[in-house]
Amino acid sequence: MSKVTAAITAIGGYVPEYVLTNAELEKMVDTTDEWITSRTGIKERRILKGEGLGTSDLAVPAVQDMLRKRGIQAEDIELLICATTTPDHQFPATANIICDKLGAKNAFGYDISAACSGFIYALVTGSKFIESGQYKKVVVVGADKMSSIIDYTDRATCVIFGDGAGAVLLEPDTEGYGIRDSILRSDGSGRVYLHQKAGGSVKPASHKTVDAGEHYVFQDGQPVFKFAVTNMADVSAEIMEKNKLGADDVAWLVPHQANKRIIDATARRMGVGPEKVMLNIERYGNTTSGTIPLCLWDYEKQLHKGDNLILAAFGGGFTWGSVWVKWRLEAGRL
Ligand code: COA
Repeated sequence: MSKVTAAITAIGGYVPEYVLTNAELEKMVDTTDEWITSRTGIKERRILKGEGLGTSDLAVPAVQDMLRKRGIQAEDIELLICATTTPDHQFPATANIICDKLGAKNAFGYDISAACSGFIYALVTGSKFIESGQYKKVVVVGADKMSSIIDYTDRATCVIFGDGAGAVLLEPDTEGYGIRDSILRSDGSGRVYLHQKAGGSVKPASHKTVDAGEHYVFQDGQPVFKFAVTNMADVSAEIMEKNKLGADDVAWLVPHQANKRIIDATARRMGVGPEKVMLNIERYGNTTSGTIPLCLWDYEKQLHKGDNLILAAFGGGFTWGSVWVKWRLEAGRL
């Protein structure tokens, strides 16, 4: 019997309606459209508005979109893994809430926390359940309501992040399509540059921590930028070398959308031209776990069966990695 791989057989996405433009941010903090565009490549981002709505409310429509495209029901899902940095609650896992809201009665679920690398960590984890033969329908959803942990008076972070979710379905394949290889890395010493100071067990939330704004994202942008450029580019080149893939063999780079300059540096290092780089940062900003599946969602009509995709991410932790995917769908269809 030929080896079983985990193929992506459907994609779904969801971004909330509200568009937060650079022009609106100019009125909120001391910044300019020119600064934001030239430093990050971002023009606008989506924000989930509404009392009582959380990350699961971004993930559910993304998974429903994916189920509709594949023509299956929520009851058919066996496992749902949610990558998120902004879970609905500290516990229970957002994956459980998503399953409940979907009516995925036969699924078990759990969350993966790896900041901006969350989606690729979850994708690789999900693929192992397919490769083992234990499950046949695994959903991986990357979702983040970043607006829930952003300080909209801090110009250094509020211009970068947005809300959104993307989901993929993994199913077994015996023709070599799907997740072919991955390199995942982490270095916890990087936590000092990018973290949330309070709200966890080290510093539980209190009046004092809230008054100090410690429930918001803290980022020391320049070191994060330097680590991201080096590591995302290195790991993308490494997975190509490991699998003897030349620049001509790669159809698409699917990069985490943190900063256009980091993406450009990664593409240069891989030797692939801008025409092969998926980019939607200008419309959504950095949606953390959502960026990579939202790129696949946006570009799926342009993807062909057999295309080699390199997924690459870098995020808080630090976490980073790359995944080689041989694309199974033809213009979005099986
Ligand atoms: N508008 C105008 N000026 C701003 C600004 C904004 N939105 N944000 C910061 N600045 C200012 C700073 O205050 C600083 O001013 P100063 O020189 O007077 O002190 C100046 O711009 C340069 O700041 P710096 O942080 O050095 O800018 P940068 O070129 O490093 O760009 C980031 C800032 C955040 C865009 C960049 O560091 C970055 O993208 N880092 C990685 C972020 C990332 O990827 N995070 C997610 C991890 S996946």
